[in-house]
Amino acid sequence: MKNLNHLIDLNDFGKSQWDEIINLGEKIMDNPHIYEASCRGKIMGTLFYEPSTRTQMSFQSAMLRLGGGIIGFDNPTASSVMKGESLKDTTKTVSGYSDIMVMRHPVAGSVKAAALTADCPIINAGDGGHLHPTQTLTDMLTLHKEKGRLTGLKIGICGDLKYGRTVHSLVKALSCYEGNSFVFISTEELQMPEYITAPLEKWSKSDSIDEVIGGLDVLYMTRIQKERFASEAEYEKQASRYILDAEKMKKAGDDLIVMHPLPRLNEIDVAVDSDPRALYFKQAHYGMYVRMALILIILNYNITPPVLLKGEAQDGDGGIKCKNENCILQKEPHLPHSFIIKGGVATCEYCESRQCI
Ligand code: NCD
Repeated sequence: MKNLNHLIDLNDFGKSQWDEIINLGEKIMDNPHIYEASCRGKIMGTLFYEPSTRTQMSFQSAMLRLGGGIIGFDNPTASSVMKGESLKDTTKTVSGYSDIMVMRHPVAGSVKAAALTADCPIINAGDGGHLHPTQTLTDMLTLHKEKGRLTGLKIGICGDLKYGRTVHSLVKALSCYEGNSFVFISTEELQMPEYITAPLEKWSKSDSIDEVIGGLDVLYMTRIQKERFASEAEYEKQASRYILDAEKMKKAGDDLIVMHPLPRLNEIDVAVDSDPRALYFKQAHYGMYVRMALILIILNYNITPPVLLKGEAQDGDGGIKCKNENCILQKEPHLPHSFIIKGGVATCEYCESRQCI
């Protein structure tokens, strides 16, 4: 594998880098305009061999909001994949057109395989039922923002724990933070794989949401992954077994938060959406900021945010003054002078006139 900053499994990065991504994501969320030109001239290739709404669009929107461009496909039948081109050849080719690539594929290990020959960094946007590291970054930012911590949490995870790649990545990551414990709520058939539970210290199993919801800080619901079952009949046996509804929510604490990577089928009743503890749509929104941060960190490109100067700049004190005679700052001098400083150029936040500093 080339020595590029690929993200295949979150454990490819150190825990301090996860924190760096989450912190940068939160900074971007607070001041998105500061970063709007950070990826100007850069191109992201998005190769989605499997359906996607949130992951694909949040990545695309992240790159566009950073000033970059996007190429790619969301339907491989409209590309040379349809003519029988191999994964290696497609990804190698697109990596030559891109500065960073995002890929989702139905086969476990496929993104790692693509990274072996890719000429640009590649991000795993979901490889079969295996891993989904950027959903986990989204989940971690959500927990940090909404619970204020990533430690000491009791996390219930419910639904398809066998095929649900988001929860595999999530448990791997959260088990690296102190004091977290897990309750896996599923049928016998859809339990968490052994390779995920084996390294865990604190975890238990349950087959009932009702029995455990009262003691949880977080309830992470998931969809039964129909597309990964051997037959429709096998899927039907598992469908609709766990449904979170308003009745069950009555048994939960006031501080519980309900998360879901989405899409939802019927595992969360729509009546729960208006409960302030239901955070899944917010979670999807946060995903865009964490992906902006990830792109910046992987490209190692302008990641130091330009300094935003607020106020105080007055004549003779050495501060910067806007020189545009038509700027509101000349007419209303009491206003705080505010500039975005980048690459030796200060841009007035009011009139956008630029001056070298
Ligand atoms: C998930 C996925 O694709 O793994 N969705 C997502 O990326 N937000 C969850 C799912 O499909 O159930």
